[in-house]
Amino acid sequence: MADAKSGAGTDITSVLKEKRVFKPKAEFSGLAHIKNRAQYDRLYRKSIKDPEGFWGTLAEQELVWHKKWTKVLEWKYPFARWFVGGKINVSYNCVDRHLSSWRRNKAAIVWEGEPGDARVLTYQDLHREVCRFANVLKTLGVEKGDRVAIYMPMVPELPIAMLACARVGATHTVIFGGFSSEALKDRINDSQCKVVITADGGYRRGQTVPLKTNVDAALADAQSVQHVIVLRRTHEAIHFEPGRDHWWHEMMSASSNDCPPERLDSEHPLYILYTSGTTGKPKGVLHTTAGYLLGVTVTAKYVFDLKEEDTFWCTADIGWVTGHSYIVYGPLSNGATVVMYEGAPNYPEPDRFWHLIEKYRVTVFYTAPTAIRSFIRWGEQWPRRHDLSSLRLLGTVGEPINPEAWMWYHHVIGAGKCPIVDTWWQTETGMIMITPLPGVTPTKPGSCTLPFFGIDPLITNKEGRELPQNHGGLLALRRPWPAMFRTLYGDPERYRRQYWEEIPGVYFTGDGARCDKDGYYWMMGRVDDVINVSGHRLGTMEVESALVHHPSVAEAAVVGRPDEIKGQGIVAFVTLRGAVEPSADLREELRGHVTKEIGALARPDEIRFTDALPKTRSGKIMRRLLREVATSGGIVGDTTTLEDFSVLDRLRHQEEE
Ligand code: WTA
Repeated sequence: MADAKSGAGTDITSVLKEKRVFKPKAEFSGLAHIKNRAQYDRLYRKSIKDPEGFWGTLAEQELVWHKKWTKVLEWKYPFARWFVGGKINVSYNCVDRHLSSWRRNKAAIVWEGEPGDARVLTYQDLHREVCRFANVLKTLGVEKGDRVAIYMPMVPELPIAMLACARVGATHTVIFGGFSSEALKDRINDSQCKVVITADGGYRRGQTVPLKTNVDAALADAQSVQHVIVLRRTHEAIHFEPGRDHWWHEMMSASSNDCPPERLDSEHPLYILYTSGTTGKPKGVLHTTAGYLLGVTVTAKYVFDLKEEDTFWCTADIGWVTGHSYIVYGPLSNGATVVMYEGAPNYPEPDRFWHLIEKYRVTVFYTAPTAIRSFIRWGEQWPRRHDLSSLRLLGTVGEPINPEAWMWYHHVIGAGKCPIVDTWWQTETGMIMITPLPGVTPTKPGSCTLPFFGIDPLITNKEGRELPQNHGGLLALRRPWPAMFRTLYGDPERYRRQYWEEIPGVYFTGDGARCDKDGYYWMMGRVDDVINVSGHRLGTMEVESALVHHPSVAEAAVVGRPDEIKGQGIVAFVTLRGAVEPSADLREELRGHVTKEIGALARPDEIRFTDALPKTRSGKIMRRLLREVATSGGIVGDTTTLEDFSVLDRLRHQEEE
């Protein structure tokens, strides 16, 4: 820890000690796509020694091409082109190719709306809808290369719209339905969209979200948009602008079923997805066609061990990358059946997810740690009411999972028999990068374990020096991978600077991590969520894990605040489980508990009880805001991505008694 004293170093002291190991069961491994460690090792070695051979073979096996590529990878640091010279269409691969087999009448999307309405679209149905809607886009003048904004609820027309864009070569940008008109406007303007696809409204927790009204407000300041297509979902009264606005159902009824897919270049831009950066200005992460499709196809197959008869449910919203890659493109490319649900997990009651798993006999379930912590808080009586025996595999994504939440997921949802894949990746990586393979990798609660094929991670300090085993540092990636983002839309310099020049020569993820003696990765949170106490940099996640381990605690968020003596002091924001009352005694007990779990170093200087934590709409705790509350008592920073604004007021008024 030579540089820790200065506070400028990038070593991170790791305090999480997790000893439990869960081996995959022989019955599972025997049937899995990848069955044992030797097979993984062999493929991994090949993927690192000969990446072009490895990915080239997979591209031939897993995708259907209009024209084969001439070169697998052209790497001009930090810009990559994959499958150079190839011609391919993503919608063809996700839909048409399944029509030549019995899959034509297989369920592609099993959908349920929040009010309880339900629909099933077979691959044939999906094909018809995608083709018709692609023709609607053409009728409105959408051409290859145009940008189209999609601002919709979680209804089947959302993936239909995405696939239709992919079919004609328009680049979509899906904007999460929870974003305000302000955020919508910024994104539409940044990518200069020609068309917006939306709905009158959507359902969320028994209320409706006024999507079209938000679009109207955004378009007052967005000149690029020529047409708006409106799906009727909630039937609420909306403003309709003649000439600009068109009903989805009217356009569709006049549209033909026949729409051959465009033969697109491998590097044709498939989508732009905006993600928040440290500066507050959203970044347009750009993904292209062939490499992205290959990455998500292969990871969906091997990480979720997808079989023909699986029913796969990823609970993310399609407005986030998880929904793009593992509701739409990855599973459909594999010809899988996906479940899609429109609404909130606790509507009408906290067992909606378990109800859906039972009703549709879901076999593979993929959700986020923040959701799991909510389930824990609501109590295990809710899942216990349902037959979850169809489940065979569970997954998590989005943030580090606390070992206690992992154990709950394992026992209460997985009945102790389902492997858990804790998948680490990012909007920028496009595909899962570090993850167990369910038939192969013994799991340790809280670790996302080993790199996927072709992925070459590195734990380093800021200067690019590799750190030894079990040393917390910065997670970087050494080589390009097919689903990597190609640039930030309209800002290649920022792409270069922020991702490829922070640490010389490698891709910097922005995450802290350590690698243990078995080569397992343990994520420690974003580097800007790291606190430095007396020269020891602690991952906020580890202190949070210790708190959540206490039986009274449902959720915890930890931030640093300046401390004259220690550099930084620790402030913990704690949400208690259902029936537990806050008290001074409990506060002392929790401090003692952290001391016992981690050591006095991590003992919180202050604990604030709160009934809710500020989160982004994708469920990430906004520690930046908590830092402000802890430091100055107020908030001046950007709050546009916050899910529930009332949380801030409540936090401000909750001083330590
Ligand atoms: C975090 C979501 C620990 C990480 C797919 C990353 C995780 C950021 C995990 C990307 C995981 C995601 N364990 N941390 N399994 N998965 N993260 O762009 O900090 O919304 O950099 O993509 O989430 O979030 P994004």
